Amino acid sequence: MLRALLVLMLTLSWITTAKAQETPAPDRSATGGAQTLADIMARQRGEVVDEGFRRDNVGDPAGGTGLGSQLGTLGGASDPELWRALRYGSADITASNSGPAATTLVQDGGMAWLMFRQGPLIKYGGYLLLGTLALLAVFFLIRGRIRIDGEKTGRKITRFKAVERFGHWLLAGSFVLLGITGLISLMGRKFLIPAFGHEAFAFIAVASKWVHNNISWAFMLGLVMIFVMWVVHNLPDRTDINWLLKGGGIFSKGHPPAKKFNAGQKLIFWSVIVLGTSISVSGLSLLFPFEINMFAATFAKMNAYGISGALGLGELRTTLAPHEEMQYAQLWHSIVSFVLMAIIFAHIYIGTLGMEGAGDAMTSGEVEEQWAREHHSIWAEEVLSETANAASKPSEAATPAE
Ligand code: HEM
Repeated sequence: MLRALLVLMLTLSWITTAKAQETPAPDRSATGGAQTLADIMARQRGEVVDEGFRRDNVGDPAGGTGLGSQLGTLGGASDPELWRALRYGSADITASNSGPAATTLVQDGGMAWLMFRQGPLIKYGGYLLLGTLALLAVFFLIRGRIRIDGEKTGRKITRFKAVERFGHWLLAGSFVLLGITGLISLMGRKFLIPAFGHEAFAFIAVASKWVHNNISWAFMLGLVMIFVMWVVHNLPDRTDINWLLKGGGIFSKGHPPAKKFNAGQKLIFWSVIVLGTSISVSGLSLLFPFEINMFAATFAKMNAYGISGALGLGELRTTLAPHEEMQYAQLWHSIVSFVLMAIIFAHIYIGTLGMEGAGDAMTSGEVEEQWAREHHSIWAEEVLSETANAASKPSEAATPAE
């Protein structure tokens, strides 16, 4: 057993040594040991470049060509150690301006962030949105519109009060505007400049940014409103398990019983609350630069609880430059927004094209009694018996006591 282990270890060490030998150290003799164009290009491609050759190479200031000679450097006075310390955030400096990021004169994460933002973020975010639309189209072709099965009664039940509808449309209207202006800010350079030119895009971009920054408050207010008004109706209970097991009755006959909100709607509600809050907090940190730093602390917790390891991310960095905090906030804000937009596409589909009678709930606030009995049977029974009780009360009062 021991021998087998030894053989395995030797083989592994041989493989790793062989691998290490395969990748020769880059030839930096032409730059005197400083970074080469190849290093810069590798970093721009997002590859991990071992920065040890710079961090540990503080040069030989005394050996520098003196100022006196032609094309001479500042020699000893050029202070490469200081510049490297600035570059790696360890310089002990003071700045004349104040503010959290004032002493960060050089920071390293910008290029990786920019490449990710211009590349995979736009690409996969776009695929997610278009893929969701395509799936909904396929679903519509297969399932068609979910109709009211039974005979319509012509009677209406109040489903949402005016204040509930106001909260919903405040949230929905602001989200749609935020989504559009956010996508313009992210993708406009790529798709709108080629179509409309720089001049027009400059105007669109400034207007989008203004709308995006200011409408965000309406979204946050709407989020708080719907949370306060609907959280009680969205607490999970036993009916949800049955509803989910029956797939909401989407492909089968009959409708599983549901209270005011069914399990599918509860999932939408909690996605909106959790993802909407995360988008709001990361948005606030972008709105007030360098004031709300969340990522170093989150990374430290992820390391401590082994989450980063389990996700295969290794040990995450827990010391971040203020700008890096902003870069992570921007990426997180966009990624979570893409996910919520995809979820909301499905929600809008069900509320409009996908289901007969659903839209009335959020427009007039009144739904067809038969719709309520089919989709929210438990809630419909409650409301109808309450209405019946209320209707019987005045006649009781009118009946003279015997
Ligand atoms: C813009 C198009 C939208 C339409 C047509 C629409 C339609 C509706 C309708 C008809 C309902 C009531 C469903 C019922 O009676 O059971 C509803 C509920 C709801 N809406 Fe919207 N909505 C839209 C956008 C949004 C947006 C952008 C958000 C959030 C960012 C949102 C969040 C919610 C939530 C949390 C509920 C309660 C849970 C649910 O019914 O799924 N809606 N919506």
